[in-house]
Amino acid sequence: MTIQEELNDTVRELLQPGKGILAADESHPTIAKRFKAVGVESSEEKRREYRSLIFSASGLGEFISGVILFEETLSQNSLDNLPMPKLLASKGIVPGIKVDKGKQPLINAPGDEITVGLDGLEDRLEIYKHQGARFAKWRDVFHISGTLPSRQAVEANAEVLARYAAICQSLGIVPIVEPEVLIDGDHTMERTAEVSESVLREVFHALYRHKVELKQMILKPSMVTPGKENPKATPEEVARATLDVFRRAVPAAVPGICFLSGGQTPEEATANLNAMNSMGAQPWELSFSYGRALQEPAQKAWAGEPDNGSDAQAALLKRARLNGAARSGNYRPEMED
Ligand code: 13P
Repeated sequence: MTIQEELNDTVRELLQPGKGILAADESHPTIAKRFKAVGVESSEEKRREYRSLIFSASGLGEFISGVILFEETLSQNSLDNLPMPKLLASKGIVPGIKVDKGKQPLINAPGDEITVGLDGLEDRLEIYKHQGARFAKWRDVFHISGTLPSRQAVEANAEVLARYAAICQSLGIVPIVEPEVLIDGDHTMERTAEVSESVLREVFHALYRHKVELKQMILKPSMVTPGKENPKATPEEVARATLDVFRRAVPAAVPGICFLSGGQTPEEATANLNAMNSMGAQPWELSFSYGRALQEPAQKAWAGEPDNGSDAQAALLKRARLNGAARSGNYRPEMED
């Protein structure tokens, strides 16, 4: 298979109707925080147990097209002793990998951060691909305040995101391009819209500069919502504001937009995606790549106890199924019961 064929096949598989992506790529500090919330101490064995459990949920491949893994998980075996990427592939799910190395303060830009991890990326990607990864993820983070993010942060982060995407494509790995505009703060929805538009425009300039093929990537953005200290907007308001910005700033050549959940509750994330998919045809597939909004109920049900395994799997499947329905605007809040 040529690299072009590989990229096209992976994009098509990830964007299948009725399905979306499960982000299970929490770094060690992040998974430790999620586990702590349900009374579990994070260890390599516990992470393996939990991730093996959720990936083994029977029927997961009906609603989940791809799973983003953390580096550690890519080389772990499931409880049934299958390499995790093999376990996923056996269920028709495409394995992917988070490749950025996290964020650091951006020097001379107080309050802003820059994502790092380009050094040695090509070599790492070759290894990940050999282990079964067919797509990758890199997350940029933008804080909102009256003055943040600075122009400097927007430009510097867009540049590294585009360089990452170009490297991935050169190796036949589909890049998920994730510019996350954080929900933290007391900003208005209008301010989120303004920041999101300027970030997206800068990201697409950088992708163009680095000759990234837009048809062979997936965008993973945050939705346009008010800051989390403000009252919530309705799904219709979120959908309208988000689509308004995206129709101006995201080229139609991009095949799919898979949103992150970014601190929305599981029910909100589903209702908001559903509202967007109820607003008529758009140039791109509108899908999900949720971490917390898919896993939170499963983690609560599990609470570290092997005996709770089937409850945890059922909780994950429920969210996956409801988000699968939201892919076509067919979710109804009554389906929560
Ligand atoms: P959340 O859906 O929990 O925001 O996670 C998605 C993700 O992958 C963040 O990088």
